[in-house]
Amino acid sequence: MNELAGKNILVGVTGGIAAYKVVEVVSRFKKMGAEVRVVMTRAAAEFVAPRTFQEITKNPVSVEMFAGTVNFHVEHIALANFADVVLIAPATANFLAKAAHGIADDLLTTIVLATTAPMIVAPSMNTKMLEHPATQANLKILEGRGVKIIDAEIGRLACGTSGKGRLSEPENICAEIVKFFAPKILIGKKILVTAGGTIEPIDPVRFICNRSTGKMGYEIARAAKNAGAEVILISGNATAEPPSDIKFVKVETALEMREAVLAEYENVDAVIMSAAVSDYRVKNVASQKIKKSNETLTLELVKNPDILKELGERKNNQLLVGFAAETENVIEYARGKIDEKNLDFIVANDVSQEGAGFGVDTNIVSLIDRAGDIENLPLMTKAELAEKIIQRIAELI
Ligand code: PMT
Repeated sequence: MNELAGKNILVGVTGGIAAYKVVEVVSRFKKMGAEVRVVMTRAAAEFVAPRTFQEITKNPVSVEMFAGTVNFHVEHIALANFADVVLIAPATANFLAKAAHGIADDLLTTIVLATTAPMIVAPSMNTKMLEHPATQANLKILEGRGVKIIDAEIGRLACGTSGKGRLSEPENICAEIVKFFAPKILIGKKILVTAGGTIEPIDPVRFICNRSTGKMGYEIARAAKNAGAEVILISGNATAEPPSDIKFVKVETALEMREAVLAEYENVDAVIMSAAVSDYRVKNVASQKIKKSNETLTLELVKNPDILKELGERKNNQLLVGFAAETENVIEYARGKIDEKNLDFIVANDVSQEGAGFGVDTNIVSLIDRAGDIENLPLMTKAELAEKIIQRIAELI
């Protein structure tokens, strides 16, 4: 949870109703260990009291150019130098116009001109204002200068209309900042991740599935993306939210997953199979709904191909990482899978432990390599574990 420890974030809040959402953003930054300073425009201070940000950040909040709020020599230069990154949220049309054209007529726009820190802006405004050619041109100018734009979302707006213009949700904004700071250890690498559970049909309305939610695999895909990799996420049934800016392939059955994985395999640097693939499928899938007639019903199952084993057999230079979901003899069974599937390392997952395995946001695993060395990891979030797995992959690649 300390993803932002040691990072200095300058948050510029401009005058939009969505300013209240930024209170949550700043609170999350603090929880992730960042040092945060907030600068507000006068208009922003009409929507949220500066004191709110002051209490959360434990730092003075600056609004006026000459108020001397911060006990630095020249305030705008001190704040400009403080920032590792500048986030503007919400960014109004007025702010975007000034930033695009170098106008510095208040404290925030002066800081923006004076800083060399990268800038991320999250626009929020009425749809017509956002779509206006002037605003679009200003966004393009900023983008051309390397400013990252966090796209506004579609939804109900404060002005009573619906359309594009809602400030991106706090979790998305925080995810962008975490991504910004993540070390780019996988730049130029192509990573394939599988996630979720496969679905094996019984008839048109029933299927065999498992408890995988995709959380573990989606976090691995996110961490790989944050590390600068090109990511392909092949997912079975899942409820987790996939990361943006990746290739996302949805499949249902183990056979479909096999086909999708093999189609990409030749061109990737590493594969991480965190998907819970059904070991068996129904031999004869009924074309019509099976009627409730006899007291018992017997389904004949046939073995599915072991995708990971096949990847191990076809391996060229790809790094192969497997998971082992076990409820007993976890280390022993996991070790067996390293040899059987020709893996570089395996994530041994005792899914019988509280806080580990299916559905939860945390996991408890051991990483075992080909030499048999074991790293026992404590309970941690799936996001933290994903980073560890990505780190190890980067070292091995
Ligand atoms: O999705 P979540 O709710 O976050 O849950 C995460 C998880 C518990 C699903 C995940 O942490 C996990 O343990 N995934 C592996 C589940 C599994 O199927 O393990 P297994 O021991 O049965 O398979 C071993 C390895 O072979 C796995 O990498 C699996 O993807 C692969 N496999 C299995 C069967 C098969 N037919 N083909 C395969 O490729």
